[in-house]
Amino acid sequence: MREPPAAGAVRLRPWRRDDLESLLRHADDADVSRGLSTRFPYPYTRADGEAFLSGQVLDLSGPVFALEIGGQACGGIGVQQGSGERRHAATLGYWLGRRHWGQGIMTAVVAAFAPWAMDELGLYRLAAQVMTGNPASARVLLNNGFTEEGLERQAVLKDGVLHDLRCFARLRAWPPAS
Ligand SMILES: CC(C)(COP(=O)(O)OP(=O)(O)OC[C@H]1O[C@@H](n2cnc3c(N)ncnc32)[C@H](O)[C@@H]1OP(=O)(O)O)[C@@H](O)C(=O)NCCC(=O)NCCS
Repeated sequence: MREPPAAGAVRLRPWRRDDLESLLRHADDADVSRGLSTRFPYPYTRADGEAFLSGQVLDLSGPVFALEIGGQACGGIGVQQGSGERRHAATLGYWLGRRHWGQGIMTAVVAAFAPWAMDELGLYRLAAQVMTGNPASARVLLNNGFTEEGLERQAVLKDGVLHDLRCFARLRAWPPAS
């Protein structure tokens, strides 16, 4: 798969086995894992990092990329595409190491990645779901042409707490222009 375009100083490139140390440095953080699936645990152990980099957590041959800043993998972004009658749709996920938050980085990364992924995979719907306690992630999506579609109530049970999910999507017009 081609590499997505860079977002300023952030390169989007495939994960590599030698990303382990930088992955652990940025991923092992309760504030990062809080808004993510339990596939991204806290503490984030060396075994978790090794399992991720060997493709046991996500299929790394798909559209899943490290965010490289200053030569280090400081975060990740990827999409999971549907199949069959949902092949035109995908779900977006992303995270960034805390020391890089609040500088507009993920807004810029999603601005570069979302149109690229929609072109590359032939998508007409790119969805993202955000826990209600994660307003920064919702802002990233709203900054990038995603529309809030509704609330999936009590959708996630994490650490003994039920969370509602805010549902967002960015669409492309159908039928495609000829
Ligand atoms: C969510 C996350 C990716 C944001 O990355 P970032 O690079 O800091 O985001 P940006 O700087 O591009 O934009 C953050 C936006 O959120 C806003 N924001 C930040 N904290 C906020 C808060 N507590 N309440 C409301 N808005 C907030 C900022 O003002 C900015 O919005 P604006 O551009 O309209 O001013 C990052 O915090 C992260 O990785 N979190 C942990 C993993 C995660 O939750 N991933 C998303 C799962 S759905």
